[in-house]
Amino acid sequence: MKIKWDKSIGVGVPQLDEDHKRLVDILNYIDAHQSDDVKSETVSLVMEQIREFASSHFRREEKYMQSIDYPEYDSHKILHKQFREKTAALCIDVMNHKKTTPQNIYHFLHNWVLEHMLHADKQIQAFVEAKQACKETV
Ligand SMILES: [Fe+2]
Repeated sequence: MKIKWDKSIGVGVPQLDEDHKRLVDILNYIDAHQSDDVKSETVSLVMEQIREFASSHFRREEKYMQSIDYPEYDSHKILHKQFREKTAALCIDVMNHKKTTPQNIYHFLHNWVLEHMLHADKQIQAFVEAKQACKETV
């Protein structure tokens, strides 16, 4: 199902929002091609690109969390690590020609990325807004 970008998927930080838009584009691309008969080499290549992009996005987001003294930094970083581990395992499955279909990969990515952006990442924005509101009332 195609995801439509709106502010609810963003965190209110331009560069991170651009990353989230790109992630939505990637999910929509996979969605459009998930029933195609693709070679495992192609799936591996797409997965590698997703992993690379996710890693650079996570680094930017982690840097941002540190810059704002985000209290949930450690637990958030663990979520990013879990994503890396799960996608690495999926890549190995694809390379070993296990029955990891593009649909399985799509469902994992779709659920994880959306859930993460709408909940864990949203909490960063909520923290910043609460901090801002405190400053304004002082
Ligand atoms: Fe995140």
